[in-house]
Amino acid sequence: MLAIIGGSGLYSLGDAFHLRDQVSRKTPYGDTSADVLLGRWQEIDVAFLPRHGAGHRVPPHAVNYRANIWALKQAGVSKVIAINAVGGISSEMAPGTLALPDQLIDYSSGREHSFFDGADGEVQHVDFSRPYSGVLRDCLEQAGVQLGCPVVAAGTYGSTNGPRFETAAEIKRMQRDGCTIVGMTGMPEAALARELEIDYACLAVVVNWAAGIDDSEISMPEILANLERGIEQVRPLLHTAARLLPA
Ligand code: HPA
Repeated sequence: MLAIIGGSGLYSLGDAFHLRDQVSRKTPYGDTSADVLLGRWQEIDVAFLPRHGAGHRVPPHAVNYRANIWALKQAGVSKVIAINAVGGISSEMAPGTLALPDQLIDYSSGREHSFFDGADGEVQHVDFSRPYSGVLRDCLEQAGVQLGCPVVAAGTYGSTNGPRFETAAEIKRMQRDGCTIVGMTGMPEAALARELEIDYACLAVVVNWAAGIDDSEISMPEILANLERGIEQVRPLLHTAARLLPA
């Protein structure tokens, strides 16, 4: 089954989603951000989990990523499309752009970032050379073509800790590293999904220019306006992509 992890601005799949079951928040790793909602989205079975909880109560550094991914796995999820609001670093990532990164760099710290923490005597190292699923990215790219909705189908997601935005110098460094977008929630979510063998892709909504890329300060009203516009395109894109997924 496919799961959608909703980021900032995406707290439900809309009226076409019909709830069939709800999985409680308790896991061996603590509570998930919200109940996992299991249902039918037109003719597709999907699970939905808002990363920041209902009403955006959980900040990026405090999200229990392990509980969220573990609960999805337990619910029978094998594929995740994650929605992430991001800042744009490279010139093709202007606010309003939808992007499908194919690489990431992790700048976050202090987060529980592995299921293989040695507690049960098991040490495992997973391959993470290509952090995002090619199959899921292809379906999302195809969905963009079908809907006439432009999607930048490559990029490198730099994952920072937040909740503050970056300094201009931090963004310059990330630019030199090759990052094209920056967000606070990309990791450890993607790596935890890999550890549990869940295919994972990120659909990023660019909501501002990253710090120092233009002369203005980062403004929350601007972010919220771009988020609202972006999310309007995200639901049809997700639904079309879900129908293109191989069985
Ligand atoms: N930096 C980090 N995370 C973000 C940004 C940003 O500029 N915009 C939205 N999420």
